[in-house]
Amino acid sequence: MREIRFDRFGGPEVLTLHTDAPTPEPAPGEVLVQVAFAGLNPLDFKIRDGSSGRAKDLALPAGTGREMAGTVIGAGSELDEAELGSRGLTVGTRVFGMRGPEDPRGVAAEVIAISADDLAPIPGEIPEEDLPRWAGLALVGLTAIATVQDTARVAKGESVLVHGGAGGVGQLLIPMVQEAGASAVYATGRAANAERIRELGAVPLAYDALDWEAELQRLTEGRGVDVVLDTHYHSTFLPSLDQLADGGRIVALPTLADLSPALERGLEARIPAIVPGRDRLDRLAQGIRAGRYPLEVSEVLPVAEIAEAHRRLEEGHTRGKLVLDLRA
Ligand SMILES: NC(=O)c1ccc[n+]([C@@H]2O[C@H](COP(=O)([O-])OP(=O)(O)OC[C@H]3O[C@@H](n4cnc5c(N)ncnc54)[C@H](OP(=O)(O)O)[C@@H]3O)[C@@H](O)[C@H]2O)c1
Repeated sequence: MREIRFDRFGGPEVLTLHTDAPTPEPAPGEVLVQVAFAGLNPLDFKIRDGSSGRAKDLALPAGTGREMAGTVIGAGSELDEAELGSRGLTVGTRVFGMRGPEDPRGVAAEVIAISADDLAPIPGEIPEEDLPRWAGLALVGLTAIATVQDTARVAKGESVLVHGGAGGVGQLLIPMVQEAGASAVYATGRAANAERIRELGAVPLAYDALDWEAELQRLTEGRGVDVVLDTHYHSTFLPSLDQLADGGRIVALPTLADLSPALERGLEARIPAIVPGRDRLDRLAQGIRAGRYPLEVSEVLPVAEIAEAHRRLEEGHTRGKLVLDLRA
């Protein structure tokens, strides 16, 4: 079967498409999935180049990718038909999900073995062309839930600034912050993404066309916001500290973000950690089906173009999600 692997840390060129990889055997509690599409995330290139904390103990050669959508084609022991049925994961079911945080294996392969706990069924009938969106949902969705609910604890009536509102996580942060009852949501992004940010329900702040800090001060009449959710971090974290209202808090998404400038000023600053779980995957599925989480896939690339896909990811301007097609 086809599988993308890399045998050393480095640039996108280390990613190699193998066509003779052995089909994996599902361990007890695991399901075998025929992968149709895999969602791509900045974490993928941080693992590939060795800069992620997750790269530290990674055995090479390794696979790539964390999230996907596909079809259940088998299961390991402990998962008989009745058990699969009770989980809604019988053979032939379309599923989506992501590797648990402790599972280092990739998903960019024709067939993967994955814990049944890390999957959820895609509810109802969906057309094939809708599958890429499901492939790109689990990682950004679980991140957005962890960010809004567990880490920032956004409460009714609070005002929120999202940095990178048109990115993968950003496109789910905006609707989830609204669900939490935010009174006002502002989001930075390039002017080219302003309309998308507006559609999602936030006030766009086009950082390449205007002084977003001055604009936010004007819009909030000098008060600033209660919560900043910073998916970009590099050039946005420090100036955001001056945008927090009294008692405000900031959440930076990159796991290696340096929070000390905020903490030294006595501000609450945190980094979210994904909490896996079927209940959360089901919540994401319901949100997509109901139209509440209109996550956008900007591009689907064939599996052979994995290196090009990583180059685009690294540019840092992905709109919604980039997705890899594993079918051909
Ligand atoms: N802590 C965790 O568990 C966790 C989980 C998932 C992701 N993350 C991290 O979160 C970050 C975001 O992930 P993602 O998947 O959303 O990435 P992404 O899809 O690549 O989106 C990044 C967004 O940042 C925006 N951006 C670039 N420069 C900017 C600037 N100067 N000001 C404001 N926005 C800017 C881009 O929008 P424009 O094109 O409009 O500039 C782009 O949409 C990554 O570092 C990722 O590794 C952490």
